[in-house]
Amino acid sequence: MLLQIKVYLIATSYFLGALFMILFPPRNYELSGAKIRTVRSAGDGVKYKQYANHKIVATVAERFGRHDPEVVNVVQLVPLTTGNRSILAVELRSDRQSRKPGILIIGALDAMSWGAPNAILELADKLLYDASYQTPFFNDYDWYLIPMGNPDGIHFTQSLRSLPPLDPYEWARNDTARPRTRPSAWHKNIDKESETKNPVCFGTNINRNFAYHWQDDVHKAPPKCCQYYPGSKPFSSAEAKAIRKYVDKLGDVISLAIHLHASFVPKKEYILYPWRYSLRQTSNSRTLQEIGEYAARQARLPDGRIYEVHQSSSDERVAGTLSDYLSGVVGIDLVFLIKPYHALYPNETDNSELVVYVKKAVSTILSVVRGWRSSTKQNTLSFFGIDVEF
Ligand SMILES: *[C@@H]1O[C@H](CO)[C@@H](O)[C@H](O)[C@H]1NC(C)=O
Ligand SMILES: *[C@@H]1O[C@H](CO)[C@@H](O)[C@H](O)[C@H]1NC(C)=O
Ligand SMILES: *[C@@H]1O[C@H](CO)[C@@H](O)[C@H](O)[C@H]1NC(C)=O
Repeated sequence: MLLQIKVYLIATSYFLGALFMILFPPRNYELSGAKIRTVRSAGDGVKYKQYANHKIVATVAERFGRHDPEVVNVVQLVPLTTGNRSILAVELRSDRQSRKPGILIIGALDAMSWGAPNAILELADKLLYDASYQTPFFNDYDWYLIPMGNPDGIHFTQSLRSLPPLDPYEWARNDTARPRTRPSAWHKNIDKESETKNPVCFGTNINRNFAYHWQDDVHKAPPKCCQYYPGSKPFSSAEAKAIRKYVDKLGDVISLAIHLHASFVPKKEYILYPWRYSLRQTSNSRTLQEIGEYAARQARLPDGRIYEVHQSSSDERVAGTLSDYLSGVVGIDLVFLIKPYHALYPNETDNSELVVYVKKAVSTILSVVRGWRSSTKQNTLSFFGIDVEF
């Protein structure tokens, strides 16, 4: 008799449990879109094998948005650039109903870092469609990605790629040589500010144009021909304006921000953090150094070297940068500047250098995220004093 009652009770509770699951399915499962998205595991491969231009970025972003409208949102930043291009942001959010810690990644402010948009698109693709990246990276965070911060500059340098190089100063000044040569390096956008005194020299370095200790690194304003010309005033460039507007609106949604840059010197690769304008340290510089070192150990370079990790001003003081703005004005705690090696004007038909850069960049970004997780112990359990990550 007692046994029968027990059996009935258990059966009833199971039935009620099943009924509850049907009536109120788990919210994450229902809304995350996880069940609709195609899942694959691409392994080690790289999908985007051609240096991306603005059109490719727009096409790929639009395709992400079309395939997975529940989790992807493509935003066109305003204002448009001088060349009438819109900077695109790709937002990946696994759950529309709740906010998760936000990660902001901005690439290709420098017109020479051609591979950065590829790396960020590759990362987006992996987060969306590769099972080994969905958990934990996609499901635990909201991702805000700006693959190409300087579409005009990238277009400009890519269109000159086949011409012979000339020193940038010489190139800017020599009218006869200019049509048949390219500047050997171009780190700016293509803004022609209205002053006609020196119409030949153009272009603003976007990563000097942000309003945080703007021009604090120099005694007098650099000339316009200089590759580090910071603009006539902070936010004089449309690119810096557009990024500022977007980032200010996100505000405290962002917990971690990464500027994906490039180093143009072989075997000099860095993970850096603010401040860049001053040798003064941020209040959390210990944490930043620890996360950076963790990431450097995880993302060991292909030849066994390891990224150099330090405050960015210890190499050189640079003012008006994006990373200092994100840290000092927007107030994001964790800001990193990642610089894997990238050749100047790499060979477009031979994509081996692109593949190396993309793999390095993606693994370094994810290692920084892992370093952050480990520093907050979000994902570790202690067994008998040993931390086990899962
Ligand atoms: C950008 O578009 C505006 C209006 O749509 C046009 O007046 C201007 O000439 C365009 N600029 C370029 C560089 O194409
Ligand atoms: C400009 O370039 C041409 C050809 O490259 C060269 O012959 C000439 O001397 C240069 N002019 C100046 C002023 O440097
Ligand atoms: C670019 O790479 C291709 C294929 O590897 C090679 O044939 C070509 O010579 C390279 N071009 C230059 C300018 O190095």
